[in-house]
Amino acid sequence: MTSVDPSSFGAKTLAVDVCRRYPGSIKDRVILITGPTVTSIGYGTAEAVAQLDPKLLILAGRDMTKLEQARHKLQSKVKDAPVKLLKLCLTDSAQIKEAVEELRSWQTPIDVVINNAAVMDTPYELTPEGHELQFATNYLGPWLFTQSIIPLVLESKGKRVVMVSSVGHHNGDIRWDDPAYTKGYDRKHAYGQGKTADILYAKELAKRFRGQGLTAFSLDPGGISTPLQKHWSLEEKQEVGRKYGAFHQDGTVNHEADVWKTIDQGASTTCRAAFDPDIASESGSFLVDCQIRNDKRASYAGDDAAAERLWKWTNELMGESF
Ligand SMILES: NC(=O)c1ccc[n+]([C@@H]2O[C@H](COP(=O)([O-])OP(=O)(O)OC[C@H]3O[C@@H](n4cnc5c(N)ncnc54)[C@H](OP(=O)(O)O)[C@@H]3O)[C@@H](O)[C@H]2O)c1
Repeated sequence: MTSVDPSSFGAKTLAVDVCRRYPGSIKDRVILITGPTVTSIGYGTAEAVAQLDPKLLILAGRDMTKLEQARHKLQSKVKDAPVKLLKLCLTDSAQIKEAVEELRSWQTPIDVVINNAAVMDTPYELTPEGHELQFATNYLGPWLFTQSIIPLVLESKGKRVVMVSSVGHHNGDIRWDDPAYTKGYDRKHAYGQGKTADILYAKELAKRFRGQGLTAFSLDPGGISTPLQKHWSLEEKQEVGRKYGAFHQDGTVNHEADVWKTIDQGASTTCRAAFDPDIASESGSFLVDCQIRNDKRASYAGDDAAAERLWKWTNELMGESF
């Protein structure tokens, strides 16, 4: 085991180095990651985790071809990595429930659930169930999935849930009276709303399951150039380029800009949130650059009453009774 002090972890720390610090939280454990498409932070997380000898890596996504690609790439990097693929479309409750049934049939406790999949700044769209697409993908779907598999997590040793949120949560609190934006859509706000809900959900999970040993964290992975930014217009990229140097004026990515992390760096905060046993006493916290940074959370995302309200409100919105 390496003796790296976690207080030295930061923005540029690699995910695999974080994982190497916590081998006991990965070896022989079952880890589920949503959104592991090969170009994404979820894949980077999976590749780092695979190197520490998990019992099983469950890669969950909506597109079986992309999941197969992820498995292929992973097993070309880490020979014999134990991978199972789970079809999971987060915008459809019926499909989420099918995925949950499939998981249950595998009869395996799940040590760590990493809710990483998301979309950002999508044009206005309602799911067939009437939810705004970003809120459905980034919060409501992961909520239903996670709530449904909590018994499998509680049976495990790890008992941890991770919600990959974003600095973008500062763009929007929850629209309690109109989460589907029926009176006018603001796509930045909608991304913020979902990412705020992720932070509050982790907080409330931490509170409600403290007595049963389950811990939960949320985090901002930092800025990583991935397909997540595909809905940005040229003008938006130019503006972000002017502010942070992240894009050239023709809209292409400026990979040299310090604001970007690589995928391996972008996955490291997730790995600390998922595997560090020593932060368990701070369950419910928010991490940035591999450190607990509740000071970086918007006040509305750290609000205890909002977290409690969200729990009941989401049950009503989803017609569930968790
Ligand atoms: N990249 C950044 O700068 C950044 C910054 C802050 C926070 N984050 C957060 O980090 C996480 C990963 O982002 P990323 O940059 O890796 O994004 P990404 O490359 O766009 O990957 C997102 C993943 O989510 C999956 N996904 C989207 N909709 C889904 C659905 N309905 N059901 C199931 N899976 C779905 C995608 O699958 P498909 O490939 O099939 O679309 C993909 O695997 C997200 O939670 C994001 O909000 C990213």
